[in-house]
Amino acid sequence: MMLHLFSLAVLFGELTSKSAVGFAPTSLNGSLIKWTATRGFSSQSTRRYQSNDEDEELGESTDMPRLLGSVDFARRRGEISAESDGDNPVVSENRILVISDEQKDKGIKRVMAELSGLLDKAFESDIKIDTYTPASNIPMGGNSAQVALIFASSLDDRSSLENLLGRVLKRTAPVAGGPAGVPPSHVVIVSSLGTERTNKMPYSMQNMFTGKLDKLREIEQSIVSISRGRSDGGKQPLDYTIVKFGDIANDDGGGSDESIEIRPGDHLDGEIGPNAAANVLLQAIAFQPYARNSTLCAIGSLPSSVSIETSVWNDKFVCLSGPEILRIEAGPGAKDDGKILDPKFEQLAAYIKEWSTAYEGDRNGTGLTTPVLVRNSRKGPSEFDGVISREGVHILFQTTNTGDRYKTASEDKAAEKDCNSGGSVKKSSDPAKIISKARKEGGIEILVEKTKNGDLRVRARRCNMDHKTVVKEMSEEVILSSLKKAVKAWVEARGVTGF
Ligand SMILES: *[C@@H]1O[C@H](CO)[C@@H](O)[C@H](O)[C@H]1NC(C)=O
Ligand SMILES: *[C@@H]1O[C@H](CO)[C@@H](O)[C@H](O)[C@H]1NC(C)=O
Ligand SMILES: *[C@@H]1O[C@H](CO)[C@@H](O)[C@H](O)[C@H]1NC(C)=O
Repeated sequence: MMLHLFSLAVLFGELTSKSAVGFAPTSLNGSLIKWTATRGFSSQSTRRYQSNDEDEELGESTDMPRLLGSVDFARRRGEISAESDGDNPVVSENRILVISDEQKDKGIKRVMAELSGLLDKAFESDIKIDTYTPASNIPMGGNSAQVALIFASSLDDRSSLENLLGRVLKRTAPVAGGPAGVPPSHVVIVSSLGTERTNKMPYSMQNMFTGKLDKLREIEQSIVSISRGRSDGGKQPLDYTIVKFGDIANDDGGGSDESIEIRPGDHLDGEIGPNAAANVLLQAIAFQPYARNSTLCAIGSLPSSVSIETSVWNDKFVCLSGPEILRIEAGPGAKDDGKILDPKFEQLAAYIKEWSTAYEGDRNGTGLTTPVLVRNSRKGPSEFDGVISREGVHILFQTTNTGDRYKTASEDKAAEKDCNSGGSVKKSSDPAKIISKARKEGGIEILVEKTKNGDLRVRARRCNMDHKTVVKEMSEEVILSSLKKAVKAWVEARGVTGF
């Protein structure tokens, strides 16, 4: 028992600080979760992973670990029961609060019908779903649900959300010797595709007369600032997830294939089947750590006869880490899986490192206007990410303000660390430190990966970010287009030489 809780604490500790993005579910017993952090660095860990029998025998679990409420909440729940001081027992009944108005949006009804069935199945009926309309008397403290699922189209505007969360997130006093209530620590907002593209068709039309998408956009921005505001105020951390769907189709159709696509931000177009939408929400609510503090959009369908494996879900959500801004498939790795090292993977990794050196030192000829630092990435392989070998580099943007352009060696190290941690928000708890710390100017982490399926790929994700970082889109574009060319050349050369 202690061991399980300890492992859980290790995982969630790691996850909160996001210092080990590689972690893997190992074995499951009922609702207890045992995760093992697979923290590993660069090439040594590539080898260690592959010769580690313990990891090998774990394989894929058909069961999945569940994560209800904020990551921080799950961690404290584990710690508190481990200490068993009985002082302030945390209510740990599985509960979800749903705020929706099915009259306003018929699609919600179809999604919720699927989702309640999925939740029941995932939690073996050990879960309560309380549904309220925004106008009803929503209980203070949200009935101690861990998660609030809110359909933004059911709300009037930003202030409706703020009023509603004012009630729902309020701590309630314990009733007559009972345990104190714990308000939801994860808010999932269902919004719409196009809220960040109101100048583009067809979203401009949808937005034209009622400003519908602008209102949804304000609701999205509101949940982000509520979540961030709490971390400054010393209150319980609140994770958020914004899920954008287009029109909800009448059904998911037949056939034997799923076509769910998930991307960070607001980039896809098209409708989504109710079963597909419900499954994406289930993943965001209970299974996918990368969906925390993220915005995602999803389209496609999932016929009811088709089921998606855990590893496939994880791969669909891994793009939210960063987020990912480019992925290029580079063909299969070397065939002989008996070997510890895959020569093709090693060659591609070395090639990308070589490519990145163009950005080191003097940046003449690279087309970049922003000074950068190039560092090796220490993100190791990860069972959870479905990645068996991983190497890469960070290209860290530096401030153009010459006054603090030259960082000390230790500041460089700190920036690099933050990059590895995917822009940890944890550290902002110490205001004194922030002031003395260099601003995070953003950057791109380029990862060369060999997947569990034996395929090679190159991914680029944003790093070295915090709330204040302004994304340097032009510099990103310069780097990404050069990267695309480089990988294309490698793939072509491979075709010619047959290597
Ligand atoms: C699960 O845990 C319980 C008690 O902690 C134990 O009795 C049971 O054997 C375990 N089951 C498995 C499959 O490990
Ligand atoms: C999400 O962001 C909030 C606010 O910045 C923070 O308190 C919380 O710990 C974050 N959650 C995760 C899982 O990083
Ligand atoms: C970089 O380019 C500028 C103008 O293109 C030139 O003046 C400068 O000397 C170059 N720097 C180096 C180190 O070559």
